[in-house]
Order: sequence, then structure tokens, then C-alpha cells
Amino acid sequence: MIVIRPTDDVATVKRLGVAAGLDESEREADVALAAWIAVDEESGEPVGGIVLERSRDMDTINWMSVSEGWRRQGIARRLVEALEGEARRRGIARLYLTARIPGFYRDRGYVEVTDPGPAALLLGGCPQCPQYRVTCTPVAMVKELD
Ligand SMILES: CC(C)(COP(=O)(O)OP(=O)(O)OC[C@H]1O[C@@H](n2cnc3c(N)ncnc32)[C@H](O)[C@@H]1OP(=O)(O)O)[C@@H](O)C(=O)NCCC(=O)NCCS
Repeated sequence: MIVIRPTDDVATVKRLGVAAGLDESEREADVALAAWIAVDEESGEPVGGIVLERSRDMDTINWMSVSEGWRRQGIARRLVEALEGEARRRGIARLYLTARIPGFYRDRGYVEVTDPGPAALLLGGCPQCPQYRVTCTPVAMVKELD
């Protein structure tokens, strides 16, 4: 069984994300507020994670990944639920992210960021990446938390 736990081990969450193909680059302005890890209870193996970050005046979802072999079982959905619950407890009004699977987030109430300023900040160096709109079409998104 997979359990989702809060963790201080942000490095492991990031390592899983990079192994799953996420961009390794970090910005100095990014501060981890909280992180969660998905662990296979039987083996103790970490299989996924997510980080709530504060980045240039925006509260963001980052580093979401689930290892191959564990996908399509609802683990990412549970990771996002854990993060949103904590964001609400902290009184965070809106959550931003750069989504690689926008449909997943649209289903959860996220919409595309229309303001070009925040959208450009969220996309960062993506438009310069050779994979941009080739194999990877990231979308800047936001959700107003109630
Ligand atoms: C994206 C990722 C985290 C999804 O993890 P997951 O545990 O398989 O996701 P879930 O099982 O919770 O998916 C729930 C729903 O999201 C959608 N979804 C999941 N993965 C998807 C994908 N790759 N493309 C499109 N939709 C996807 C589906 O609607 C899915 O429901 P379904 O299985 O009933 O069809 C995982 O594929 C991954 O680590 N990918 C590489 C890293 C990455 O792209 N991270 C996302 C950054 S925004």
C-alpha cells in the first residue's frame, strides 16, 4: 500500500522528480514550505513526491512526480490533495504551477494564468528549451482556494 507522508527530505522528492524527467534547474528565490513523499509501505521505497514552494510572491506546486511502475493509481491525485489541504490550513489564497499535464489540473479546478507577467515567471526558461512545444507543452496555471 502507498502512504503519503509529510517529509523534510525535499532532496529525495527532487531526486525522484529529476529521475521522472523534471527540469533539474532551481531558482534561488524558491523556498520549500512543505513537502510530501509517497512511500510503498511494504518495501519502504519512495515512489513519488510533491513540494509546496514560495517563489517570487507566488505559492507554487512543484516537483510532482510518481515513479514509472506506480503511475495511474491515483498517487499524484493524493499528493495534490495533501498539498492543497496544507495550503488551505496556511491561509494561502491561490496556488500556481507550471503544469506539464494541464488536463489533470483543469479537472481539479485550475485555470490558465492569463496575466502575462506571472505566466512568464512561471514558464521561466521553458520557451528557450528545445523540447518546448515539441515533447513538452507546459502551461502556467492557477487555482483560487476557497
Ligand atoms: C504526471 C504524474 C505525476 C502522474 O502521476 P500518477 O500517479 O500516474 O497520476 P494519477 O494516477 O493520480 O492520475 C490521475 C489522473 O490524471 C490524469 N493523468 C495522469 N497522468 C497523465 C499524463 N501523463 N498525461 C495526461 N493525463 C494524465 C488522468 O486523468 C488520470 O486519471 P486516470 O488514470 O483515471 O486516467 C506522473 O506521470 C509523472 O511523474 N510524470 C513525470 C513527471 C511529471 O510530468 N510531473 C508533472 C509535473 S506538472
